[in-house]
Amino acid sequence: MRNDVVRRGRLSGERTGEMMHFLSSMVADRQIADADVLVDIAHVLMLSKQRILDEETVRPLLAALLRLYDEGIPESAFDDIYEDVHAGIEAFLITTVGEETGGRMHMGKSRNDEVAACLRIRLREDVLRQLSILFRLRETIICLAEEHTGTVMPGFTHLQHAQPTTLAHHLLAYEQAFSRDCERLSESFSRVNLSPLGAAAFASTGYPVNREYIAGILGFDGVLGNTMDAVSSRDFALEVLSNLSIMMTGISRLCEEIILWSSSFAGFVSLDDAFCSTSSIMPQKKNPDTAEIMRAKAASLIGAYTSAAVTMKGLPMSYNRDLQELTPSLLRGVQDAKHSTSLLNGMLMTASFNRERMKEEAGKSYSTATDLADMLVRKCGLPFRTAHSIVGRAVQNGGLDRVFLDEAATSITGSPLPGNSLQDIDILDALDVEKSIEQKKAKGSPSTLSIRSAIEDRKKRLEADQQNTEQRALALKEAIDALIRDARRIARE
Ligand code: ARG
Repeated sequence: MRNDVVRRGRLSGERTGEMMHFLSSMVADRQIADADVLVDIAHVLMLSKQRILDEETVRPLLAALLRLYDEGIPESAFDDIYEDVHAGIEAFLITTVGEETGGRMHMGKSRNDEVAACLRIRLREDVLRQLSILFRLRETIICLAEEHTGTVMPGFTHLQHAQPTTLAHHLLAYEQAFSRDCERLSESFSRVNLSPLGAAAFASTGYPVNREYIAGILGFDGVLGNTMDAVSSRDFALEVLSNLSIMMTGISRLCEEIILWSSSFAGFVSLDDAFCSTSSIMPQKKNPDTAEIMRAKAASLIGAYTSAAVTMKGLPMSYNRDLQELTPSLLRGVQDAKHSTSLLNGMLMTASFNRERMKEEAGKSYSTATDLADMLVRKCGLPFRTAHSIVGRAVQNGGLDRVFLDEAATSITGSPLPGNSLQDIDILDALDVEKSIEQKKAKGSPSTLSIRSAIEDRKKRLEADQQNTEQRALALKEAIDALIRDARRIARE
């Protein structure tokens, strides 16, 4: 018969299966179980270093924990009779090495600091993984931009044709946004990767624990000073969820555009069949379902963030069981964000863009009218507002040729455009879509020159971001490798 070692002293009363399942965090805890083994190993090492536990206890404890590390955690530790995986693992240890030894592991530790540490260990990995997927997505976008520097397309405001641009310029807008998402996640990492351990329930412990040591061997960058804050804060999770929500708003915008672009109205892009579904009744259909689900995942992320934030709102110090309910939102949010980013990358990599259709639309709806107004300013010395009115009036009257422009100029200024300084070729040139784009040479604009230099900048930026994240991942891996190595050595001694 399994025994809830935490509960048996103070409480009696039979719990029904429904009660146990309601109270248990086991479903979510499966995702922090590996982290829990690491925390237990580090805790025992710390108790050993501080001479709180003697060798006779430390050796078998570490050996049992290393078996869990090497062979995996047995299913019995995930039984709902335990409120959580921390109790499940402790009960398993007591069963395997006996209470005389196993019953000493939890000295100076509480599930409160333990779960906070596990969440932080899990989340720091998730943040690094999310960053690396974002890097791949940025790389794909930069490659597409290189390929489509000369792919002319309409740019929109209010979803109306506005001014011509290029696909490269359009896609790089997203790359820039995704690089800010990386920045935000990367900044959050430094607040995620702090250790709550040694805080115990909230008031720390009278045992001479070494908080810096245990933080260091688990690869944390530092210690959360105040022990009450250490167990009760989840702003690190809120921060990551809110950053992921922001990221998902960007992803949902790109998905929305992909959906629009793939409609037969636009015909700008054709998605690989693998990313599409068909209809159970309309045999001809090819629907961009992956992009649609991804667009909706932004709502799920915002929901996860909202649920977590509302859980924290008004929660008194210090640990409250409400905190347990935040974990599934966090894990679900992180998972949805990861899958969305990675699938979006695949969808973009395999999409084929229709250059002709984009070009066809680029000059529609007088999309170069602004260039024409600018040309009138340059050639005829008109104030911009006057030129803007003349061009606007000509559009209203039916076209942007010399006749309409002169008529418009007469109705706005009282005289036609000056014939000597303005040739028909000037009008044709100003209206030319490609010339319009190539004139835009300022930093970040769509001309070939600006885009080429932007691509170089973005590549450099991406490389620096990648290096930074790789260093962090390596530091974590080295810390955990060293932790396990030390544990093995001491277990064998
Ligand atoms: N399962 C709990 C959680 O996820 C563990 C923390 C401590 N539980 C407690 N009753 N104090 O938050």
